[in-house]
Amino acid sequence: MSMDKIVALCKRRGFLFPSSEIYGGLNGFWDYGPLGVELKRNVKEAWWKDMVSAHDELSQLSGAPSPFQMVGLDCSIIMHPQVWKCSGHYDLFHDFMVDCKESKKRYRYDQVRGRWLDAKGQNIFIASQTGGDEGLEETQTKALKFLGMRTKQAADLKWESEMTTLVTVKDFSVVLAPEATTLGTLTEPREFNLMFKTFIGALSGEEGAAFLRPETAQGIFVNFKNVVDSTRVKTPFGIAQVGKSFRNEITPRNFTFRSREFEQMEIEFFCHPKESSEWYKWWRDRRYKWYTSLGLSPSRLILREHHKEELSHYSCGTADIEYAFPFLPQGEFGELEGIAHRADFDLRSHQEGKLVKDGDNLIVETGPDGKPRHKGSGKDLQYFDDRVRERYWPHVIEPSAGADRGTLAFLCEAFAEETVEGGESRTVSRFHPRLAPIKAAIFPLVNRDGMPEKAQELYRSLKADFAVQYDDGGAIGRRYRRQDEAGTPVCITIDGQTLTDSTVTWRDRDSLQQIRLPLGEVESKLRGILKTQS
Ligand code: GAP
Repeated sequence: MSMDKIVALCKRRGFLFPSSEIYGGLNGFWDYGPLGVELKRNVKEAWWKDMVSAHDELSQLSGAPSPFQMVGLDCSIIMHPQVWKCSGHYDLFHDFMVDCKESKKRYRYDQVRGRWLDAKGQNIFIASQTGGDEGLEETQTKALKFLGMRTKQAADLKWESEMTTLVTVKDFSVVLAPEATTLGTLTEPREFNLMFKTFIGALSGEEGAAFLRPETAQGIFVNFKNVVDSTRVKTPFGIAQVGKSFRNEITPRNFTFRSREFEQMEIEFFCHPKESSEWYKWWRDRRYKWYTSLGLSPSRLILREHHKEELSHYSCGTADIEYAFPFLPQGEFGELEGIAHRADFDLRSHQEGKLVKDGDNLIVETGPDGKPRHKGSGKDLQYFDDRVRERYWPHVIEPSAGADRGTLAFLCEAFAEETVEGGESRTVSRFHPRLAPIKAAIFPLVNRDGMPEKAQELYRSLKADFAVQYDDGGAIGRRYRRQDEAGTPVCITIDGQTLTDSTVTWRDRDSLQQIRLPLGEVESKLRGILKTQS
């Protein structure tokens, strides 16, 4: 499936627009159009409903270690700067970047790929920004140009390696950077903190410095005590939050996949340390099933456990749910969600000060004066568990999903071009009905004989409860095609027969089947297809 076609559909039908487009756009920022805003809202609402509001805390979900409670929060984007010092983001939330002195382009060190070539009596590293077949092609074109050779001489190039990463290269003087024409133009890798900095009020300088949150999770940790004190939640329980996060990504790319402003849907699930491994496994599998139940194909969705070296500074176990996005080389997957076992790192850090690993233990990090380098809040963030009459810092399992990446995956999965009866072709977005931006379209077959009035009556009766659209413009076939592209699961047509026997034509987006349905059954049938909980 071509990503270009999906991007074109998004623009043409109003799913996604580049931010500030009339001024040339702003790299890493995107706007959701009229259809996109509904789609993304449906993704977030499905998540909130399935994980929080419709979660049944009285019964034991299949395979769950025990019944559990779920509550929500909505925290501020700018928080006390100490939050980020104790969370580790201030010191550790960075990527390494390299700059090209010739092209003035900046790259993420770990994202530059390339392969070794034997040329001019030495080994040179021909770099590219892409992997897979595209990377092979790009490095070949660059090598030919660099050596002044013609395309038909490609077979004469002496490649010394497969595609590999710049991280493995020791000597940058033999690197031909992705957009350079001479060797050795890349700087040594430098650290770059990904948090956006801002200044609060009239205070200038470091005194007023603050950060836009790079994750929603920390708002949950710092409110842990407030939630426990103000509700009757008892471990095991989860706190959920949906909201914007900001990261000054060095190379935002792949449409909305890596943006600088994006939305997260995060749960911090608090449990007894001894039960945490079981909960980790359960959440990992539960979250995978959520995506497949909303339409992502298991053939394009994987659950991948991290190797020990990949784990974040806080994590003692993480799995990623990854999707085979069409912009990735064949066989590669991109992260939709991470499920991390964060142990007691965050609550302890916010109480005692930033923690670091000392062998297998966590200890408070100290400065040269022997005092905690970043002081914690000093507030007691332990929890008294009256089940086992024990005080402890609960262990945390964190399913952390990206709302934009989820939306993009559902868009990619839904998109199809096909030939239908009569040899006509159509573009269709096969969204799960719960996610579809428009749930049903209502058409009068023709604009006369009382059909528009009847169709409008139906439209108005459904409008209060469902996102429905009225369309009386153009031939019926064209109206169907418009709704197919938008991903509308059903089209309901009022025709001559409706006026005599009160039945309508109900047309299914996927099967293209048309049935006659009594007008009085439209609402319950529509409700039926939207009801499934995932
Ligand atoms: N609290 C843990 C945390 O933030 P993460 O893996 O850094 O973990 C969680 O982020 C999810 O947020 C990712 O799986 C992804 O879906 C989304 N995400 C992260 N960075 C993103 C970006 N630059 N653009 C879009 N989504 C992003």
